[in-house]
Amino acid sequence: MALISPTIRPCGPEHLETVLAIEQEAVSCLERPDLLRRNTPEMWRRCLAAPHLCLGAWVGEELAGFAVLYVPQPGDGEDLSVLLTKVDAAAHTSANFKICIVRPQWRGRGLQVLLGKHLGREARARGIDLLCATASPYNKPSVHSLLALGYQADHILTKYGYERMLFYCVNFDIRI
Ligand SMILES: CC(C)(COP(=O)(O)OP(=O)(O)OC[C@H]1O[C@@H](n2cnc3c(N)ncnc32)[C@H](O)[C@@H]1OP(=O)(O)O)[C@@H](O)C(=O)NCCC(=O)NCCS
Repeated sequence: MALISPTIRPCGPEHLETVLAIEQEAVSCLERPDLLRRNTPEMWRRCLAAPHLCLGAWVGEELAGFAVLYVPQPGDGEDLSVLLTKVDAAAHTSANFKICIVRPQWRGRGLQVLLGKHLGREARARGIDLLCATASPYNKPSVHSLLALGYQADHILTKYGYERMLFYCVNFDIRI
């Protein structure tokens, strides 16, 4: 697989249509429907604006993939850290590595890991020292990328009506 050096830069509200199209493309080529839960357009609008951060990996003019750092807000029901059983979340400042999608033709080149590292670095700069993520235990590429980023499995829970493994990462490596 040819190596690529994408440019990493934030996506904003102006990228909503592109992000939705890439999500649609990813959903349409899933092996099984429970591997990825679609976000609502409203959730994407949120993800594309502060205090959250959506980082894109650009190959030339093409958005090859993106990943979201989601900073849970009081009452939004998104705080995954409260579900952790192996970490005392109260001793940390947490956020979620909410979603990562890489376009099919760019997969297998470590883009999720690269985006995850950049998000980790951004998180640390904001004083966040605990990151949480969920993935279907059957989503091998996603689970492998999270493990490569240093995430550890906490437990399996039911989320969005599907089985999800809850992952966490503390003291994450911010070297790119
Ligand atoms: C999960 C996903 C983001 C991983 O992105 P990626 O940049 O391809 O990740 P990596 O390059 O780190 O590869 C991850 C694994 O997939 C394998 N892989 C290789 N080629 C692949 C290909 N063409 N397609 C899919 N996976 C491939 C890699 O070998 C690696 O496995 P390994 O660790 O055993 O070697 C991507 O597969 C995707 O967008 N999937 C659909 C959306 C999704 O499920 N997102 C995760 C839930 S939020």
